[in-house]
Amino acid sequence: MKLLFTDIKELLQVRETAVEKLSGEEMKELPTIKNAWLLIEDDKISDFGKMEDLPEIKADETINAQGKIVLPSWCDSHTHIVYAGNREQEFVDRINGLSYEEIANRGGGILNSAKTLQETSEEEVYRQSAQRLEEVMSLGTGAVEIKSGYGLTKEGELKMLRVIKKLKENYPIPIKSTFLGAHALPKEYKGNTAAYIDKVINEILPEVAKEKLAEYIDIFCEQGYFTVEDTHRLLSAAKAYGMKPKIHVNQFHAIGGIQAGVEHEALSVDHLEVMRPEDIESLKNTATMPVALPTCSLYLSIPYTPAREILEAGLPLALATDFNPGSTPSGNMNLVVSLACIKMKMTPEEAINAATINGAYAMDLSETHGSITKGKKANIILTKEIPSYAFLPYAFGTNSIDYVFINGKKVK
Ligand code: NIG
Ligand code: FE
Repeated sequence: MKLLFTDIKELLQVRETAVEKLSGEEMKELPTIKNAWLLIEDDKISDFGKMEDLPEIKADETINAQGKIVLPSWCDSHTHIVYAGNREQEFVDRINGLSYEEIANRGGGILNSAKTLQETSEEEVYRQSAQRLEEVMSLGTGAVEIKSGYGLTKEGELKMLRVIKKLKENYPIPIKSTFLGAHALPKEYKGNTAAYIDKVINEILPEVAKEKLAEYIDIFCEQGYFTVEDTHRLLSAAKAYGMKPKIHVNQFHAIGGIQAGVEHEALSVDHLEVMRPEDIESLKNTATMPVALPTCSLYLSIPYTPAREILEAGLPLALATDFNPGSTPSGNMNLVVSLACIKMKMTPEEAINAATINGAYAMDLSETHGSITKGKKANIILTKEIPSYAFLPYAFGTNSIDYVFINGKKVK
């Protein structure tokens, strides 16, 4: 099957030779071809160029993309799409003055979602989660990471990870799975974090590994949740099973989670709303991708990740949604890109790089996704007629997407 796009107003993120990730100054540049064509053969990008050089191609289908922009689909490297029910009551409680931390201390928050998850059947969790996955695909997401972490019991965590596995089997987009058993402390372990970490390490992790349910390991390294010491123990144990860390750090407090992540060669450290100079310093010359989650900052009214400081230090940065029922009930990468520009002062070029190739890196997918490169998967966004690519983040809240293609096939 040959699908040809012609007259593309601008083809974005064209990388003749694949790059792994982009850092610092490199992020300022977004290579494009104006008035371009793009050929997709089966599920892959097979060729592209300028319209004036278009060779004769016998395509099965041709799409005239006049006035429209084509770019790689978004790579969302941090989500909690699998959950049960919602927490709109906590949303109202927050409007009425309670903080996220106060709600959590009253047994709300993650523990509230864990209770609902435990009471919901695997089939029903799958049904609700699949709906969200379909929604984000229609919004342009073409690769996604999904975490467990609302089970907090062996049965609950395995239920979530099996749902992720089923999503992987039933949907065409690449899904990476992360075990986040250490997301919050179950009530019965109050005051004994170490005992819960023991349980995660000795009882749940071996089962997760045995069923090959997770590529990555995660922990919420944060005051009131899990300590740096807990983080070291868990990451060391997971390493024995080949699970790389992608961890929640520096959301509310800087307690040394980044340094722990770097020490364990984390693929990514995520959140980073609160950054000390030494936190930025410790990420230099490492393979760890910093990941910012600006829709979480918006929703919780907490600081935004200091993108400018991170980029000016020469570091890379990826953008993701954090889609979850408590701190970010939205999986819209278009809004993430807009907020990165509006609130984090990233340029459209930097934000698009962060949401495509760097997001792919944060899921070990940069060889196959995240750029327009021959041989990569044909996961792309075709926009509506728009004046320029800066219009995408500029017109925040507007749906500028015409169609999304995954593996060369149109998403409904
Ligand atoms: O990434 N920070 C920890 N976990 C989630 C929020 C979980 C929740 O409130 O349900 C996050 O923001
Ligand atoms: Fe998260």
